[in-house]
Amino acid sequence: MERTFLMIKPDGVQRNLVGEVVRRFETKGFTLVGLKLMKVSRELAEKHYDVHKERPFFGSLVDFITSAPVVAMVWEGDGVVAAARKIIGATNPLTAEPGTIRGDYGVSIGRNLIHGSDAIETAQREISLWFSDEELVSWEPTM
Ligand code: CMP
Repeated sequence: MERTFLMIKPDGVQRNLVGEVVRRFETKGFTLVGLKLMKVSRELAEKHYDVHKERPFFGSLVDFITSAPVVAMVWEGDGVVAAARKIIGATNPLTAEPGTIRGDYGVSIGRNLIHGSDAIETAQREISLWFSDEELVSWEPTM
């Protein structure tokens, strides 16, 4: 079954949007299989954002992600990677559609509340970077 990785960034946690983000994915019908609140090490943040390491904002992005707790999650369901990108909205909250998380709650590209994996292969890499096998719970709703 397809899985994706989501991280509620320090701004999302501090603006008390954890419940709202979880609610959107739960009510859509996806299955939560991993969830933890954590302070991110520099090493993990740099690995996670490795693809952006040559970009001018890389240093400030890593500073921000390591500055305060984040909530890391894994969600499961058919087509969850692409669907999560739609639920989250465009990278820049100013151009993200209303109705998306970033479109509804954000105004700054550097404070865009949440990260979601951009492809199935990226999701696999990010899930194994952030979670051990023991931290993920495979289950199927029965009601
Ligand atoms: P995210 O989906 O976490 O992936 C990379 C992040 O880099 C992105 O969300 C933004 O928060 C951040 N980012 C992208 N472009 C810029 C930019 N021009 N200035 C600051 N941060 C940026």
